[in-house]
Amino acid sequence: MKRSHTCGELSDKEKGKTVSLCGWTHTRRDHGGVIFIDLRDRYGFTQIVFDPSHNKNVLEIADKLRREDVIAITGKVRLRPEGMTNPKLATGKIEILVDEIEILNKADTPPIEIDDRVDVSEEMGLTYRYLELRKPKLQKNLMLRHKVTKIVRDYFDDHHFLEIETPIMAKSTPEGARDYLVPSRVNPGKFYALPQSPQLFKQLLMVAGYDRYVQIAKCFRDEDLRADRQPEFTQIDVEMSFIEQEDIQEIVEGLIKTIWKKIKDVELKTPFPRLSYHDAMEKYGSDKPDVRFDLELVDVTEICKKSDFKVFTDNISKGGVVKVINAKGCAAFSRKDIDELIPFVQIYGAKGLAWAKCDGHKLDSSIVKYLSDDVQKELLKKTHAKKDDLLLFVSDVNPKIVYDALGNLRMKLGKQRGLIDEKKDELLWVVDFPLVDYDEDAGRYVAMHHPFTSPKNMETFDKDPKHAQAKAYDLVLNGTELGGGSIRIHNPEVQSRLFRLLGIGPEEAKEKFGFLLDAFRYGAPPHGGIALGLDRMIALLSGDNVPIRDVIAFPKNKQAQSLMDGAPSEVGAEQLRELHIKMDIVKQQKEFVFDKVRESLDHEKIPYEVLEHKAVFTSEEAAKVRGTQLKQGCKALLCKTEHGFIQVVVPGDREIDLEKVKKELNLKEIRLATADDVKKISGCSIGAVPPFGNLFGLKIYFDKKVQENDDVAFNAGLHTKSIKMKAKDLIQVTGGVVKDVAK
Ligand code: AMO
Repeated sequence: MKRSHTCGELSDKEKGKTVSLCGWTHTRRDHGGVIFIDLRDRYGFTQIVFDPSHNKNVLEIADKLRREDVIAITGKVRLRPEGMTNPKLATGKIEILVDEIEILNKADTPPIEIDDRVDVSEEMGLTYRYLELRKPKLQKNLMLRHKVTKIVRDYFDDHHFLEIETPIMAKSTPEGARDYLVPSRVNPGKFYALPQSPQLFKQLLMVAGYDRYVQIAKCFRDEDLRADRQPEFTQIDVEMSFIEQEDIQEIVEGLIKTIWKKIKDVELKTPFPRLSYHDAMEKYGSDKPDVRFDLELVDVTEICKKSDFKVFTDNISKGGVVKVINAKGCAAFSRKDIDELIPFVQIYGAKGLAWAKCDGHKLDSSIVKYLSDDVQKELLKKTHAKKDDLLLFVSDVNPKIVYDALGNLRMKLGKQRGLIDEKKDELLWVVDFPLVDYDEDAGRYVAMHHPFTSPKNMETFDKDPKHAQAKAYDLVLNGTELGGGSIRIHNPEVQSRLFRLLGIGPEEAKEKFGFLLDAFRYGAPPHGGIALGLDRMIALLSGDNVPIRDVIAFPKNKQAQSLMDGAPSEVGAEQLRELHIKMDIVKQQKEFVFDKVRESLDHEKIPYEVLEHKAVFTSEEAAKVRGTQLKQGCKALLCKTEHGFIQVVVPGDREIDLEKVKKELNLKEIRLATADDVKKISGCSIGAVPPFGNLFGLKIYFDKKVQENDDVAFNAGLHTKSIKMKAKDLIQVTGGVVKDVAK
């Protein structure tokens, strides 16, 4: 054993003791020939001292130490002099006077700072994840994760649950995202799906009589990523037999209570409040409401029916609604402040945002001429508007748009106005979800949860699907969906009726879930379950509003890539041949780049304009036909580096500066890609490549001048079509990094 203690362990109790420590050289300070080093390991920091008057030899070695060198030392614990103690540090009262030192390994200069106070870019952090993981903050998160996982296992063990592993290579599960597929070499042309959840297997374990199942389960979903979503994430997955909804809720409440007590020493009150889906949408415009603050939505459809404001009355006559938020004390908002909220609600499909300021007795706004005195009075009463309040209205034929727009506006104002008590944890259950939702595009009903969820009313659910409710429940914490589950259907006849309602024919049901339906014929107990997002729970428990990638050791970036090891990566021709897979990427991308760009913008609800024009081949020609300035164009250039290809985007009136790129990105080599490379990677010819390298799996760097434009425009795969959009949206949606890379 090279060490007697860790770097977080020693205190004044060990004064005078000779100890050995190992760790990384965190900081090194030279005070008049005496060298002080903060030695770091995952347990903490200890100050070690090299004093020439004590030992000259070790000082000479210490003098050569650099950041992150790995060393072992032996020395004596002594108290720090008066006034030099560090109360913030567990070991802050002592230091070690070093007698011996061994350099276990020298380190190259690390490309990122191992310092919680220094933010590194996501790209650098994920590329050098093993260095980023040295940061105390990340280590704290992973230690918290370990603790919570242990509490979870102990809790379920105490309650007679069995932890059972289910397959990773399996058949597709119906959670609604796309599957990650794994080709089978020995079954040519056939694929396994990585599980989106262990849903079907846990139900089969109930049929098999295991009664209480739990698993800390890895799940895989190919969906668009956000701060609280990873393609590979972990669930605390639970299933129980012979139970009702309340039994599951009670078990989960017990779990959460135990975790909060053990981790935060907070006594949560159970049972958690229950809020119906209907009330959640009506009051908060969200099925995962943050109830730490009010600012509730108020329905004023009936009142606005009596107004002369055509936008409202037209929508209402077509079955639409008008809802309002009373932004307390916000009457001082300027026109500009309010105008800035309009594009925000438009993201969620709202056509506009009407407003009215209250002076205590009446309203003032551009629409006030359409609101009679009586209507104004009624509005004041219903919204409890007082002096200095601001009413913000959204109306639409489609109530979902109104909920979504105002629900998100509520959150924005809540954060902006400091209405949220970040120290509080508000847990609640959202219950009584609709059983099905009507998918306008597909022209059929789809399951709100999944197609094995039990209806509440067995008699009427397929006669009146619009009003049918499900025995489904979500656990919500501070506006985040922490978990979701349901009581399952265990009766084959009810299951067939639901499949029929969802337009899943007997053949399709047999093909997709035949094994589960077969199993149900052999005595299925009534059962139900839930899954809690472990990553989300840890992120929320860590208390720093961190994205979930900060609680996962090796996460993916927004493009589902692992920058450290370069996954996903291309595979060799031989491997593909063995799997009988032929690549068709170049052809496909050529035809679909334009559609792919639009698809990704539509999906994120980002506004843009499509411009059709004669074929253009230079930035000047393009600016002319688009009617934009040269600097608004985006030259999207592919470059080859020693690590592979990247995309660099510079404004139309500038040139790429390869030397600057090299320096900014710490590269050894860089050159522009050849026309052949460009074609191979993007499927587009030079000049038509959009600044969406992420669609081709490339990292993107935008020159800082690009973001000085409000709108930018670029050819999207074709020389005859351009897309015009906000520069800031472009950088955000592509996950681009802004650098100084142009001449
Ligand atoms: P559901 O799809 O609601 O239910 O997922 C349960 C919980 O898992 C978490 N979660 C995610 N966390 C991180 N990244 C993701 N991409 C991601 N997707 C989901 C959320 C969510 O609430 N089989 C059902 C459960 C059941 O019915 O028992 C299921 O998976 O916190």
